[in-house]
Amino acid sequence: MPDENNIPLRLLVNAQQQPLSLIKFNDVLVEVDYLKVLASTYGLEFTGLPKLASIYESSAQATFGQHALVTIDQESGPPAVGLADLSDPKLHPLCVDFAADALLYRKDKGGGKNEAIAKAVGVKGQYYPTVVDATAGLGTDSFMLAALGCEVTMLERTNLVCALLHDGLVRGRANPQSVDIVQRMRLLAGSAVARLAQLREANMSVDVVYLDPMFPHKKKSAAVKKPMKMFQALLGHDEDADDLLTPALALANKRVVVKRPSSAPFLQDKTPSMQIKGKKHRFDVYW
Ligand SMILES: C[S@@+](CC[C@H](N)C(=O)[O-])C[C@H]1O[C@@H](n2cnc3c(N)ncnc32)[C@H](O)[C@@H]1O
Repeated sequence: MPDENNIPLRLLVNAQQQPLSLIKFNDVLVEVDYLKVLASTYGLEFTGLPKLASIYESSAQATFGQHALVTIDQESGPPAVGLADLSDPKLHPLCVDFAADALLYRKDKGGGKNEAIAKAVGVKGQYYPTVVDATAGLGTDSFMLAALGCEVTMLERTNLVCALLHDGLVRGRANPQSVDIVQRMRLLAGSAVARLAQLREANMSVDVVYLDPMFPHKKKSAAVKKPMKMFQALLGHDEDADDLLTPALALANKRVVVKRPSSAPFLQDKTPSMQIKGKKHRFDVYW
């Protein structure tokens, strides 16, 4: 397996072209070591604030730009890492929380094997394909696949998103409600195009490659919650999404599944072998 560290990470920068920084959310500097490790793992700049409670003041914005990673104390367990909008103190920072009520509810009360995503990847009876989710984002789809019983390898190129995911996995493993599922998930940082080729070279056996690149939203949708809008605004549109299909097809033993908004064109204009329509999306399936 090639050295993982050779893959360049794309560094997210703020409006002043400075790297986004990790800062504390409140005054207690208990978890600084953890934040430093996260920062160095994912190529983010670590900056401490002398007076941490003042992060929503304009001086903090001048230092950090509009967005920053922060820690948020939890009622129990270790603090969470979240993405904060320093211009909007009312907006709760965006975190990856695999024990969130909404996710656990969907896992327990959703359609299970009848959900469109389960059918798209081919879960059937006691067959649970191994999946590489090449565009992991905040890990929701990966979590649903792992909850069904699939082993999921997540690929993510944006270092800021990797830091959120990494923290979600750490806390998810420490939580009895999510540990069994999160144990089936792992994260590899870096470009999926390079990673998919590496995994193929390493003869990794993968049944399904799952793709869900960012696609521009047609109009301002009230359905998209504010923290998600912050995520979309920061990451923009994955204009190179077409590049993922060929290496995905080369790696997958069974199928490639592409999640698309209903209005989006096919990747590479390639007609899929099958389509499955979900409530908000469609899944283009190639084999
Ligand atoms: C729409 S989000 C995925 C959402 C995800 N399915 C979920 O359930 O949370 C797309 C993500 O894919 C990542 N991405 C896009 N192209 C990529 C590539 N070539 N390599 C690695 N990550 C990529 C983006 O950084 C972004 O985080």
